[in-house]
Amino acid sequence: MIFRLAKSNRNCNLNYFNMKSDISALRNEYSKSTLSDSELSSDPFVQFDQWFKEAINSDQIEPNAMIVGTVDQYDQPTQRTVLLKDYGKEGFVFYTNYKSRKGTQLENNPKINLLFPWYHLQRQVIISGTVTKVSKEDSESYFHSRPRGSQLSAFVSNQSEEIPSRKEIESRLQKAEEDFKDKEIPLPDNWGGYLVTPSSFEFWQGRENRLHDRFFFERENEHWKISRLAP
Ligand SMILES: Cc1cc2nc3c(=O)[nH]c(=O)nc-3n(C[C@H](O)[C@H](O)[C@H](O)COP(=O)(O)O)c2cc1C
Repeated sequence: MIFRLAKSNRNCNLNYFNMKSDISALRNEYSKSTLSDSELSSDPFVQFDQWFKEAINSDQIEPNAMIVGTVDQYDQPTQRTVLLKDYGKEGFVFYTNYKSRKGTQLENNPKINLLFPWYHLQRQVIISGTVTKVSKEDSESYFHSRPRGSQLSAFVSNQSEEIPSRKEIESRLQKAEEDFKDKEIPLPDNWGGYLVTPSSFEFWQGRENRLHDRFFFERENEHWKISRLAP
């Protein structure tokens, strides 16, 4: 990684880590694209679809990776990355363990935030909404489309639970490999998909001099109210 060396330290007095570089000087101009009123679709799903396809066709790594925010029982927000596996007019689908930390939180509070960090395109999309579980048939069908190794890992991993060691989970995996040799691996009871039904979208396009384009879509009955937000 190339750090621009600091010319002076006057902006940064927090030199706790004795860094040789000045991160306050890390700065890019955002000039790759625009999002004007006339370019914006009046349908946020159409706008998302267009940007998602552009992300897939760009050099953005993991274009379907999204940061998922949930809230715990103490109102503490928590986040992690998960992969978007399907989307359409009904919403956005990802798969996980229903008993994981996020699964437990969503059981108590189904409100969720998704953030697509498409830095390569100087874009981000933020979606707020509510989750419901997808049907068992959908979870089953996606589960069995995964590589066998991923199915086995999901089977042996009680995601987010403390484990004594890596060795212990590796031996669980090895045992499952033997138990299910030449057999179909069943969908684990606690594993499946969530459908996020959006209540709002924000599309952010980086622009020169930090005067970015931002559009906020808020669901109002069957319609979407659109506002342009200050950058
Ligand atoms: C690029 C990337 C993709 C990931 N995709 C998923 C995913 O699709 N589903 C999932 O459960 N965890 C996925 N993870 C792991 C999660 O970030 C997280 O560690 C895990 O779901 C446990 O989160 P929790 O303890 O908050 O429930 C992914 C992590 C990364 C970095």
